[in-house]
Amino acid sequence: MAIPDRDSLKRAAATHAVRFVEPGMTVGLGTGSTAIHAVNEIARLHAAGKLPGIRTFATSSEIAHAAREARLPLLAPAELASIDVTIDGADEVDPRLDLIKGGGGALFHEKVVAQSSKREIIVVDEAKLSPKLGTLHALPVEVIPFGCEAQRLFLEQLGGHPKLRTTAAGETFVTDEGNFIYDCSFGPIDDTETLAAELRSRTGIVEHGLFLGMADDLIIAGKDGLRHLRRNPENGSIDEIPA
Ligand code: A5P
Repeated sequence: MAIPDRDSLKRAAATHAVRFVEPGMTVGLGTGSTAIHAVNEIARLHAAGKLPGIRTFATSSEIAHAAREARLPLLAPAELASIDVTIDGADEVDPRLDLIKGGGGALFHEKVVAQSSKREIIVVDEAKLSPKLGTLHALPVEVIPFGCEAQRLFLEQLGGHPKLRTTAAGETFVTDEGNFIYDCSFGPIDDTETLAAELRSRTGIVEHGLFLGMADDLIIAGKDGLRHLRRNPENGSIDEIPA
């Protein structure tokens, strides 16, 4: 049997998640090479008349563009209120379903959408699974351009070895909010809550890529098939449910 390539795994996880989108729902559209497969599947079902009455809300200008191209009904940025379900990707996921996000630069808007979502479904291929956040991926930290060098020093003192994100053309990467991103290589992070609190309390840092306790579901595609983990809303335990 052929081993599925990584993009096929991403598509399998994202397409599976779309089964939780129902007619009439407001749907958050995540950003990245995994979440785009969910956008495509939602668009396919919508065009076939199978998701009447849905409205979508995009986590980035890039995904808003894709949603418009696919003729999905798209809410304007100021119209965000409550979202029924969001399907988004992640860069790294630990066993508690905590995440590092922001590899695509959309972490700020993604977090705004996640905190307004009744159900946040994260879709990944199995290479994103990690025993401890920071093991596989640098932590993106979004800062305002004003005083950014002072933030770099602060992140350096925290042990993050910050690197200002640049584009393929070598220019400074600018987020949808006009900010910069420092990618911080902390290595495996022992205490994510404390680090998140330190970053949150620093003026000039607008957001960071630690998404703690925000994912409700995790759908993982691997060479042996799909797995679905769900956070139990009653007691917070992570349960495996049939995929
Ligand atoms: C976008 O800013 C990110 O949070 C993405 O969700 C994350 O980087 C995963 O992207 P891929 O699905 O492209 O790996």
